[in-house]
Amino acid sequence: MKEEELYQLLNKMTLDEKIAQLMQLATPFFKGSSTRGHITGPMKEMGVSESVIEHTGSVLGASGAREIKAIQHRHLEDNRLGIPLLMMSDIVHGFKTIFPVPLAIGCSWDLDLARQSAEVAAKEAAVSGIHVTFAPMVDLVRDPRWGRVMESTGEDPYLNGEFARAFVQGFQGEDLANDMYSVAACVKHFAAYGAVEGGRDYNTVDLSERHLREYYLPAYKSALEAGCEMVMTAFTTINGVPATGNRTLMNDVLRQEWGFEGVIISDWGAVKELIPHGVAQDLKEAALKAFRATVDIEMMTTAYIDHLKEWVDEGVVAEGEIDQAVMRILRLKNKLGLFENPYRGADEQLEETVVFSPSHRQMAKALAVKSCVLLKNDGVLPLDQEQHLALIGPFADNGDVLGPWSWQGSKMDAVTLRQGLASHISEERLSVAKGCGIQSVNEAEMMAALQAAQTADRIVLALGEASEMSGEAGSRTAIKLPKPQIELFKRLKALNKEIVVVLFNGRPLDLSDIVDEADAILEAWYPGSEAGSAVADLLMGQENPSGKLTMSFPQTVGQVPVYYNHFNTGRPLNAPDAQERYVSHYLDSPNDPLFPFGYGLSYSTFTYAQVTSTASTIKKGETLTLTVEVTNTSDRPGEEIVQLYIRDHVGEVVRPLKELKGFKRISLQPGESCQVQFDIKEEQLRYTHADLQWKSDPGAFTAYVGPNSEHVTAVPFQLMD
Ligand code: IFM
Repeated sequence: MKEEELYQLLNKMTLDEKIAQLMQLATPFFKGSSTRGHITGPMKEMGVSESVIEHTGSVLGASGAREIKAIQHRHLEDNRLGIPLLMMSDIVHGFKTIFPVPLAIGCSWDLDLARQSAEVAAKEAAVSGIHVTFAPMVDLVRDPRWGRVMESTGEDPYLNGEFARAFVQGFQGEDLANDMYSVAACVKHFAAYGAVEGGRDYNTVDLSERHLREYYLPAYKSALEAGCEMVMTAFTTINGVPATGNRTLMNDVLRQEWGFEGVIISDWGAVKELIPHGVAQDLKEAALKAFRATVDIEMMTTAYIDHLKEWVDEGVVAEGEIDQAVMRILRLKNKLGLFENPYRGADEQLEETVVFSPSHRQMAKALAVKSCVLLKNDGVLPLDQEQHLALIGPFADNGDVLGPWSWQGSKMDAVTLRQGLASHISEERLSVAKGCGIQSVNEAEMMAALQAAQTADRIVLALGEASEMSGEAGSRTAIKLPKPQIELFKRLKALNKEIVVVLFNGRPLDLSDIVDEADAILEAWYPGSEAGSAVADLLMGQENPSGKLTMSFPQTVGQVPVYYNHFNTGRPLNAPDAQERYVSHYLDSPNDPLFPFGYGLSYSTFTYAQVTSTASTIKKGETLTLTVEVTNTSDRPGEEIVQLYIRDHVGEVVRPLKELKGFKRISLQPGESCQVQFDIKEEQLRYTHADLQWKSDPGAFTAYVGPNSEHVTAVPFQLMD
């Protein structure tokens, strides 16, 4: 449809019909849905009338070509003007083929595979009838107590921005309008949801505007620059104002300053939550605040439906303002081609062949291999096929490896670690025992595990968190492995056997109970549908670990938040004139994390030669190139992620000790070397000043190149006026 035709359509709509477009309801509300009639609890209390449903703009959580077609078909029969529904769902790290959770994808530092994973997810979702995914989630995360850190790619604004772009490109493809196998992306949660105090979900967020702009906003901006069609609000406050009613954030920054013309949707129930937040006295005021903040779609509450018309009647809201919101929604429907083909990619036959196809599973495995991070290896890995292995632990043969937000994925279809190892090791050489539940002890299970371990040459101990222990509303204060699992570890360790720990979990954990005594630790996160096959290939040396952390692991929860790009403070610990006590430190813990950002081991060894630089100064418009030769000094092919950090020594406001500015994933054969180059330009040295201007300051800088944020070679240079 042409823009003028959209306006003609708008002109035919009554005010009620327009306001209903601003409403999003869950699947059971719609005729044609197989769950129709299952409206219970809070959904029932919403009391939405049939006529509202007939004119509603979008559906939350429907899936499956047959059902979505049925819903759309029934809707179009009832909808006077034939306006199709938008089908929106959370396709976060895969549809049915589940990829590693985003935090794990971050650890792959592989933007191309990340993009491809989103492309696969989009294709599976699109043939199943979905038009929009509520992803990517790009909230910067520094506090592993927050359960949703697994949905983010980590603690670095630059890296998060790169992944945000890759995910959006993958979901939306090159031509959203004509590519039936793409879906529109909805970046979330605007903004800074990841900074909840104490890591407690839905809690307060309070950040200076400078801090917000420098660390938290860049990834959303990258997503929008990549063409992301929608934005979802955060549940949380930002500087005293809930994001969902925050006009400064949404209208002034997102729309006016950044020029975002797409659709903004509230998070589930977030408009109504303006009341308990304490900025609206009732639903009517909540409607006004959210609408004034330019939130177009209200998800699963009825503030707009119940009250926007009253605001128009009272002359507070102009119908023209409602028209603008409706037009944004109609434009998105039009861009997706729904007026011509309301079923878009939905195709039962293709669903059969495309969804969870062998080639998609292969891609999920490839990404899982690259996402796992080898945290420790005292020489026990890779394992030897000829040895007798005891595979023990609550994750030894457990399909709970998909992670949160994998609602279409099936744990039954996930490859467990036992299944993965079975394709490498003969049955007689592999004993399997659970040992304990994820959070429960059973003495008989424990004894069986000890017995299995007795006769084995090596123990692989698969530990972790159940997927409900992270994700939304999955905050924890004690971020250790559950006690029964630590007890299992200790009792196995008493057998004096080498133990390889494999971790399946959604956050950096406090590993102090096991880190010293474990002989190797592989952080697998939630690797997805191909978990067991990917991890087994890594353990057996068929694949070489190459993932590197994108979120620091604390020594203890008391250090949280601990992140690499922190400030020096006025009393840094390692200053030459530091006094014994009056420095910024803890009496009972080091300042450094257990495993820093960028860290991860390989079965290969890589040496870094001296870093050379083309110049010691740069000016605007010039490029300084750093070169380092990296050599694989082992007898295994391997991949290394070479990282570039920069420090600005004297800023107008304090600059972090290091900031990631570039990285390269390289692949080297045994004995092979490669020259890795990084270009540095003045633009990379800019930052948000006190007056919120984005610019650089001339002066002293240091570039650091190395395998992680701690082990680096320093190259000083000056930025000249
Ligand atoms: O997209 C999600 C969001 O991340 C959390 N609340 C519910 C939304 C829709 O499912």
